[in-house]
Amino acid sequence: MLHLASTTPRSWVDRVSADLDELLLDHTHCEKKAASTALNLVFRHDATFPHLAAPLAAVAREELEHFERLLELLADRGVAFRAVTPGPYAARLLGGARSGGLARTVDTLLCAALIEARSCERMTRLAEYLPEVGLRNFYRDLLQSEARHFSLYVDMARSLPGVKDAAVEERVRELAAHEADVLANVPAAPRMHG
Ligand SMILES: [Fe+2]
Ligand SMILES: [Fe+2]
Repeated sequence: MLHLASTTPRSWVDRVSADLDELLLDHTHCEKKAASTALNLVFRHDATFPHLAAPLAAVAREELEHFERLLELLADRGVAFRAVTPGPYAARLLGGARSGGLARTVDTLLCAALIEARSCERMTRLAEYLPEVGLRNFYRDLLQSEARHFSLYVDMARSLPGVKDAAVEERVRELAAHEADVLANVPAAPRMHG
C-alpha cells in the first residue's frame, strides 16, 4: 500500500535503539521539516494550484502537532532539543526529481509521499520492536497519520490538471526504486532515514 521498493529489517531497530535519544532527536527534526515542506508547497503553488492549499495546510498542521509531541517526549526523557546536521537522504531523493514545470511539481509531491511512506514503514518497525512499551505505543499512534499523508500527497499529484492517474502510478514506481537505492547508500546513523 505504501509502494516502497525495499523493506526495513528488524536489525535497523536494533541498531538505532542503541542510540535512541539521537534517533528521537532526529525524528523531532523530521516532523518540523515535514510541516515546513507542506507550508512551503502552499507558498510555491498558491497562484498555480490553489486547490492544494487545503490538503497541504492539513498536513502542515498535523506535522506541527507531531513536532510538539516529539518535543514533549524529548523533555520527558531529559533530552535537550538542539540542532542536528541533516542527513543526505531527502536531498538525494529530491535529486531524482525531474526539472521544470508540471513534471517537477508531480515529482516533488511524489518525493514527499515517499518520505511519508518510509517514515511510516520505519515507525511501524519501531512500534513492533522497540524494547520500551511506552515508545512502541507512541509510534503505533503516530504512524496512522503518516500512512494517510502518503495517500494525500499521491492524490495531490493525481489532482493536477493534465496529469493522468496511470502516469502518477508509473512515476511512483520509478521514484520508489530511486528512494530504495538512496536509502541503501546513506551512512548508517541513528536517524529515521539513516
Ligand atoms: Fe508526522
Ligand atoms: Fe507525515
